[in-house]
Amino acid sequence: MPGSRGVAGGPRARRVAVLRCVVAALVVTVLLAGLAVLVFWLVVRPKPIEYTVASAVVRHFNITVPPGGGGTAALNATFYLTLAADNPNRRLSMRYESLELYVHYGSGEEAPQLAVANVPDFRQPSRNETRLEVRAVARSAPVADRAAQELEHDRAAGEVGVEVRVRARVCFKVGLVRSRHYDMRAVCSPVVIGLSPTSARSFRSVPCDVAIS
Ligand SMILES: *[C@@H]1O[C@H](CO)[C@@H](O)[C@H](O)[C@H]1NC(C)=O
Ligand SMILES: *[C@@H]1O[C@H](CO)[C@@H](O)[C@H](O)[C@H]1NC(C)=O
Ligand SMILES: *[C@@H]1O[C@H](CO)[C@@H](O)[C@H](O)[C@H]1NC(C)=O
Repeated sequence: MPGSRGVAGGPRARRVAVLRCVVAALVVTVLLAGLAVLVFWLVVRPKPIEYTVASAVVRHFNITVPPGGGGTAALNATFYLTLAADNPNRRLSMRYESLELYVHYGSGEEAPQLAVANVPDFRQPSRNETRLEVRAVARSAPVADRAAQELEHDRAAGEVGVEVRVRARVCFKVGLVRSRHYDMRAVCSPVVIGLSPTSARSFRSVPCDVAIS
């Protein structure tokens, strides 16, 4: 019988037996780890966190273009934004650290930054929507000639289109288990804000694209 040599325990047969044992242990470990992940997933059932710009108002919008084309144009504006952060999860709470919100003019990589605002750290319970009221001020923010012309055009047209970007460090908690820190980035675009005092009422909320890494 071919198996009888293994029972006899030659050195080669013993090595094969050890190898089999190691492979079996590895397979069992992987299966158990997979099972643990599956059970965790089924219990927590994570759902994505959603961010929305729920309201936006701009005040004191004014742009100065230096006469004669020398120097750079500067923008003054105060943006009042409401960012709604929705955590629909039953068992997952969150902690936000160093949340910053940026207002850029236009959209894309090249869009110049107009204003920035910091939001104090906060904890978000499970199944909760938190509304962050943010005020971002552009105080003599330098803008390139082309953007200045477009802003001037927007002012005449009565509405300005901006991109709102959010960055934060977040941490998830399930029961007593806390995750590592993640980098959360959200981009909300286009956020079109009317300049007339009554335009806030007709603002349509803008959903944000979210990336957590
Ligand atoms: C804009 O700023 C200029 C110069 O600072 C000022 O004369 C003008 O009244 C301002 N316009 C508005 C709408 O605030
Ligand atoms: C912007 O505000 C600064 C002071 O906060 C002021 O000196 C400047 O003239 C303002 N510019 C415009 C365009 O209103
Ligand atoms: C969400 O959580 C915050 C902070 O704990 C709380 O102030 C707020 O009322 C909660 N909102 C809802 C809709 O439960």
